[in-house]
Amino acid sequence: MAPKGILVTGACGEIGQALIRQLAESTNARIITADLAPLPEVIAPMVSEHLQGDLLNRLKQLYDYDLDVIYHLAASLSSKAEIATEEAHRINVEGTMQLLLVAAYRSQKYANPVKFIFPSSIAVYGLKDQEEKIAAGAVKENDFNFPHTMYGCNKLYCEKLGLYYSHYMGQHHLDDVPPTMLDFRAIRFPGLISAFTKPSGGTSDYGPEMLHAAAQGSTYKCFVREDTVIPFMAMPDAIRSLLLITDAPREKISHPVYNIRGFSISAADFRKEARAAFRGAQISFQPNRQRQGIVDSWPMDVNDSTAQADWGWNAEYDEKRFFEEYFLPEIRRSYAKKPSVRTRE
Ligand code: SER
Repeated sequence: MAPKGILVTGACGEIGQALIRQLAESTNARIITADLAPLPEVIAPMVSEHLQGDLLNRLKQLYDYDLDVIYHLAASLSSKAEIATEEAHRINVEGTMQLLLVAAYRSQKYANPVKFIFPSSIAVYGLKDQEEKIAAGAVKENDFNFPHTMYGCNKLYCEKLGLYYSHYMGQHHLDDVPPTMLDFRAIRFPGLISAFTKPSGGTSDYGPEMLHAAAQGSTYKCFVREDTVIPFMAMPDAIRSLLLITDAPREKISHPVYNIRGFSISAADFRKEARAAFRGAQISFQPNRQRQGIVDSWPMDVNDSTAQADWGWNAEYDEKRFFEEYFLPEIRRSYAKKPSVRTRE
């Protein structure tokens, strides 16, 4: 059934902007957005209504909307969350909990399961040290679920909340006629890279920051070591994964959360690609202990075979295609039009 109403929280963020463009193109649904910030001018005409302000203060209003799908993208990312842990908990956990209650209420009242699509993260993994990280290779969903960050703890707990509200809430699954439960689906994203927007507040930000700086001819001091490896993904693949998991029949969803991967790459390889594409790119490495510690606890790669089997996932962009067919042509076009790429603010 085609959705009639879609809510996108965190609409002004990187995923939000890219998702809204895609939804506006591919569906006739009424798109309602929420964010602390006003919508960027180019996005605003694609949206029926924008709720600006703290999500936790707008909840009462949300109970009145006819929603089939919720993309709950609002979050305080890993680096920012380490600086303001209590605020991160409020945004990442309380915000999610309250929105799950909205979805649970609507699912039950109208006997129509609201799809709750939740972006989780590789931050839910916590590897002890480099030795363990190298030995682990591509991790599976249930491995190493011992996050070192506030953000990772928040995401892991919200995955569990999603499972609870979609399967066990009130233990009604034991009733003869259980109420309709919401339909929770989560994807653990690797670091995401867009040619159109720049990230803020995350720890995988060094990859996109380095590439955007090189394209703009600015110098860049990378805050992690050259040998740092984590998985990354092109933004168009991330958006495609969200739409694929939304459209998958419920009986195909055998897990509440799925890994997906694009390509694993070292910070040194980012520099190599940036230098090859933008002659004279000035990139140095000045590791920051705290941020290095965070990426050292994240896996080098993830195993996404369950997403492949359940809902036909496969990334379209490996490292070569990412640079040659997406990032470099798009960013050159984008900087040729205007010198500064859109940022979240
Ligand atoms: N990109 C996120 C961060 O760096 C990880 O999912 O916080």
